[in-house]
Amino acid sequence: MFVFDPYSREVDIDPYPLYKTLRDDYPCYWSESGDCWVLTRYEDIYNAGRNWEVFSSAKGNMLDDIPERAGSTLGTTDPPRHDRLRSLVQYAFAKRGLEYMVEPIKAITNQVIEQFIDNGELEFVNDFSSPVTVGVLSMLIGMPMEDQEVLRKNIVSILSTDPETRQKTAESMASFEWLKNYTGELLEKHKLERPDDLLTRLLEAEIDGDKLLDREIQMTSLTLIMAGVESASSFMTMLALNLSDHPDSRARVMADHSLFANAIEESLRYNTTAQRFRRTLTRDFELHGQKMNAGDKVILCYGSGGRDERKHENADKYDIDRPNAREHTGMGGGKHMCLGSPLAKLMVETAMAELYRRLPNLERNAETLDWIASTTFRSPTAVRYSF
Ligand code: HEM
Repeated sequence: MFVFDPYSREVDIDPYPLYKTLRDDYPCYWSESGDCWVLTRYEDIYNAGRNWEVFSSAKGNMLDDIPERAGSTLGTTDPPRHDRLRSLVQYAFAKRGLEYMVEPIKAITNQVIEQFIDNGELEFVNDFSSPVTVGVLSMLIGMPMEDQEVLRKNIVSILSTDPETRQKTAESMASFEWLKNYTGELLEKHKLERPDDLLTRLLEAEIDGDKLLDREIQMTSLTLIMAGVESASSFMTMLALNLSDHPDSRARVMADHSLFANAIEESLRYNTTAQRFRRTLTRDFELHGQKMNAGDKVILCYGSGGRDERKHENADKYDIDRPNAREHTGMGGGKHMCLGSPLAKLMVETAMAELYRRLPNLERNAETLDWIASTTFRSPTAVRYSF
């Protein structure tokens, strides 16, 4: 009998054959072990993402979310609260634009490269994608650079689930507390010193006299750190992996950097790190002949939407010339569409272009990949390269 268990190692390692069976035979599937419905077709995910009145985020947007996040962050609120938060955060982001970040991203990338350039090899996650993204986010939000390692360690711990017990571990909860205290202290420091960064802009953001409350700024910074560091770092690792596995595409991207934008969209379609996000039904809802009840959890498999043959021809083929590659679900959709998308794309493109420029002979070593245990993300734990 076919079983889809979002907590299984099988799903962490390779969800794509399972998604195909789900899309073809069980488009609205009840997962007993996940205690949730599973939607895998592009059109259903697209529609559910836009129908926030029924598919609510207010009880959490991860299957095994930490209860305290429900109702308190951008990703875990519904309109009108969500729209108010999003406008204020967007305002803080837009105030200075992103162009000013290109040179600092290059500088951080080169500092990181200097650490391993004499070794002839690198482990991509720990040596490159993670320090670069933590470095960029640290600069953006105003976190001290020396905190990078401890930050990344705690974020991975928060996002992981014990595959045996299917619970957040005591370690995950302790890491969440740690990050909450960390952002609280950072906020207090910013109130006094007011450095020129995003956190200060969040403190100052004001629309029609409305400002963010301290707790909202704290939870927003926490979300930006978690969403930004883990998603962007893992996505950079995925893009490098996709390009290594498709040397023709890689050669074209290296020869013409304007093709990076296509490669990024295609990797978000083909292999997004943000695989499955959760909603909770506010009322009974019927889909593909299945009756779902108010209060049921539903997971939207963003990673499956991009591989839906109903939407994309030869969906399992990595093709940087795909004309409709941008129509993917790799960064979500509707009201909760990734807010950090322009920053993530800029960071990944700038850092990877710099890496290929410095190390044109980068080759992936044939080594088994492993993946973090997560109901939400598909992130490699380590990938080795030589050069
Ligand atoms: C390539 C890297 C990234 C991927 C694949 C990604 C993916 C996603 C996805 C799928 C969602 C929707 C979640 C849902 O449906 O509930 C989301 C939301 C969000 N992302 Fe990203 N993300 C990335 C990078 C970033 C970065 C760098 C930041 C910030 C610095 C960020 C901040 C956010 C925020 C704040 C939300 C919540 C938006 C809302 O609910 O209104 N993300 N992201």
